[in-house]
Amino acid sequence: MRAIAEAPSKAIVTGEHFVVHGAWALAAALPMLVRVEAESAPTPSVVSDRVAGGSRGILPILKTVEAMAHELSFDPGVRVKVSSEVPEGAGLGSSAATLVAVVSAVSRLRGFKLTPQEVSRFAMVGEREVHGRPSGVDAEICARGGVLLFRPGSPPREVPLDGTRSLMVAFSGSRRSTRVQVENVAKVRKKSMGAFDLLVAEASERSLEAADTLSKGDLRGLGRLLSASQLALSRIGVSTRSLEGLIAAALSLGAYGAKLTGGGGGGSIIAVAARGKEKSIVSGLRGRGYEAFVAEVPVKGARSWLER
Ligand code: PMV
Repeated sequence: MRAIAEAPSKAIVTGEHFVVHGAWALAAALPMLVRVEAESAPTPSVVSDRVAGGSRGILPILKTVEAMAHELSFDPGVRVKVSSEVPEGAGLGSSAATLVAVVSAVSRLRGFKLTPQEVSRFAMVGEREVHGRPSGVDAEICARGGVLLFRPGSPPREVPLDGTRSLMVAFSGSRRSTRVQVENVAKVRKKSMGAFDLLVAEASERSLEAADTLSKGDLRGLGRLLSASQLALSRIGVSTRSLEGLIAAALSLGAYGAKLTGGGGGGSIIAVAARGKEKSIVSGLRGRGYEAFVAEVPVKGARSWLER
C-alpha cells in the first residue's frame, strides 16, 4: 500500500516580505505541482528528482515526518519519493509545496485525514528549517489552494472568484535563497527608524484592495496595485536589475502591471493584462529568452489518495 499526494505551487500576488512583519498578503495557488509517494520502510528516507536546496532540502522533510510521527503517535519508518514540476529558488513556493505534499501523503498512509489547516501547521516545521522565519503564507496557500488573503495570527480569508483569472508568470533565470532575502529585509527594517512600519501598513491595504480587484475581474486596477507593490519591494532592497528588466519587458509588451513574486533577489515576476492579451505577452517574453507561462487560477489545494 502506498499513499500519493499532490500539492500546487503558488504566487504571492501582493504583500511578500511585509507579511513577515504583520501585513496582509494575497496569494494564489498555481497549476505546477509537486507529487509525493509515501510507503512504509524500515527507516525514514527521502528520494527526490528535485527537492528545494538539493540534499539540504531533505533534512526539513525528515524533521517534518518526525514531528508528525511524534504528535500523531505513528511509526516514522516511511520512504518518501518526491517529483516536482516547480523550479527551486524561483519564488514559486517549491519548498512549501513539497512539504505540504509530504505531510498529505504520509498522514494519508498512516490513516489520518488532516484538514488543510493541520497540513500547513505540520509543513511549517520544515518551512522553519528552510526559511528561518516564514510567515506561513506559502504553506497555507499550497495546502488550501484557491486565492487567499493571509496574515500571521489571523484566520486566512478565501477570495471568491466568479470564473477564472489569468496571471502571467516569468522566471528571471537567477535562483536565490528566500532566507537570505528575509534576513536582509529585517536589517533594513532595523535601520529604518519606524519608516518600515508605514510600508507594512500600505502593503497590507494594497493586498486588501488587490483581493477586491481580482475578485471583481478589474485587471487594470490589479495591474496598478502590482506596479505600486513593485516600487515598495524595490525600496526594501529585494528587487534586482534582472527582475526590473523582465518587468519592463512585460510592461512594454502590454501588461497592465508587473512585480517580482516571492522572496526576490532573483526568481520570478507576475504580471496581469487585458483578457486575451496574455498569450502574446508570454510569447514575447519567451522570444526574449525568458521562461514564461500563463496560469489560470483558481487551482485546487493539496489532495491525497491511497493506491495498492
Ligand atoms: O520565495 P518564496 O516562494 O519562498 O516566498 C517567500 C515569501 C516571503 O514573504 C518573502 C517570506 C514569507 O515567509 O512570507
